Amino acid sequence: MGRSSPGRLSLRNRLAALFFAITFVAIAALYLYVAPGLQTRLIDQKLGGLASAAQTYSGEIAGTVGSNAPQSVLRNQVDAAGLASGDRVTLLLVMHAPGGLQLSTEADSSKLAAAPPLSFPVAYRTVGSGRSATGTERAGDSTIAEAAYPIEFGGRVGAVVVYSAPVSDIVRSVSIVRHEILVAGGIALLLALVGGFVVARRVGQRVKRLELAAQKVAAGQFDQVIPVDSSDELGQLAVAFNEMQRQLAQLEEARKKFIATASHELRTPIFSLGGFVELLEDDDLDAETRRRFLEQLSEQVERLRKLSVDLLDLSRLESGSLELRPEQVDLGELTRSVSGEFEPTLAQHDSHLELRLASRRIEAQCDPVRVAQIMRILIDNALTHTPPGTRIVVTAAREDGDIRLAVRDDGTGIAPGRISRIFEPFYTADDAQGSGLGLAIAIELAERMSGRLSVRSVPGETTFALEIPVSGRPAQSRTEPPSFPP
Ligand SMILES: Nc1ncnc2c1ncn2[C@@H]1O[C@H](COP(=O)(O)OP(=O)(O)O)[C@@H](O)[C@H]1O
Ligand SMILES: [Mg+2]
Repeated sequence: MGRSSPGRLSLRNRLAALFFAITFVAIAALYLYVAPGLQTRLIDQKLGGLASAAQTYSGEIAGTVGSNAPQSVLRNQVDAAGLASGDRVTLLLVMHAPGGLQLSTEADSSKLAAAPPLSFPVAYRTVGSGRSATGTERAGDSTIAEAAYPIEFGGRVGAVVVYSAPVSDIVRSVSIVRHEILVAGGIALLLALVGGFVVARRVGQRVKRLELAAQKVAAGQFDQVIPVDSSDELGQLAVAFNEMQRQLAQLEEARKKFIATASHELRTPIFSLGGFVELLEDDDLDAETRRRFLEQLSEQVERLRKLSVDLLDLSRLESGSLELRPEQVDLGELTRSVSGEFEPTLAQHDSHLELRLASRRIEAQCDPVRVAQIMRILIDNALTHTPPGTRIVVTAAREDGDIRLAVRDDGTGIAPGRISRIFEPFYTADDAQGSGLGLAIAIELAERMSGRLSVRSVPGETTFALEIPVSGRPAQSRTEPPSFPP
């Protein structure tokens, strides 16, 4: 039995772990992907701003560099560009020395002594490519965004204007955001773990309740009604489970009743047999009495034989193990021969049987042995449950796609209050001393043939009709529990 062992990951723990994992992944994605992406985007934006400022404000400087204008003019222009753009503007002169490139600061809009000394890596790139460039540089513990604008004279890049601004506030803001994500994430994780555990525990308890109830059912107890406390999937499962229990209890009840009745039915003839055997042991019995006893004895043996065959048939029908052997059958012929079997009994009973067969051949795909069995049960009933001298009419006809075999008698009929029960096993509606199994077997057989057995009875006319399909569709295998017809 599936008891949760400590080594196994219970549904509860698994659900809680899943909650936790999902939250964890979401937070990790925020922290590792969204926050850095934000920083990159903000810095890119800043670099774009610097580059467009460089385009906008460098024109005058470009015109002056390389001319003979005094340095003070150049300085003023750099200051003016710094003021207009709001960025730090630095003018660098390029010297193509034999040892490599050298840049020297010609003018700087930042007059602050605190202005960090910058090495301007973007300026070198601009000289190399001859085109504008942007980039960042670390100076001390701050990050500087830079855009370099090349100025050409004498056929090559002779000077570079660099627009720069610190982006430390961006970096700081993003790092605050990351910190906040961590804190909020920690809280969310905790909530997910606790929440997941609580929800999962609730689910786990409900599943456990079902498991316990199922164990009780397995042990034969059907009184564990599970409270239906919600309409979700587990609630529906509980409803289905309760319904299953109800049906099982009903079946169990029917089974017990069946067994009790069956053993009672078997016991009666066996006791009576024992009685006769004892009587026969008496040596003083005259031949006539002995013959009478032996006759009774063989009657009881016959009754027992019939009962055991019927019980076996019924149990095989209800368990679905009775196999039909369908073949092409001439049902007119079959009806005639079954009716013929009853001639001696009919004579004893002073009864008369009339056969009414359709003029056309009535053929169908069915198991002849089982159809004959049903016919025998019906004709036997028409003889044993009616007064002597009864007229019996047996008809066989074809009615749109179905074959209809009917047995009608003009006996006293079945009381309306009892007719609904005559198909139950062991139910007898009169004192004819039958076992009550005949119609129960007949209706099960009819159903197995995808057919129908029906009855109509008024005083003076009782008709049992069996309808079976001509095509002999295979009876669907019965999946629902055996039911006793009403
Ligand atoms: N043709 C009939 N006329 C009157 N009653 C009938 C007829 N057929 C069946 N019954 C009633 O239905 C009951 C059930 O029939 P059945 O299952 O064959 O059991 P059994 O014949 O062993 O009594 C019978 O006991 C009888 O009361
Ligand atoms: Mg009968």
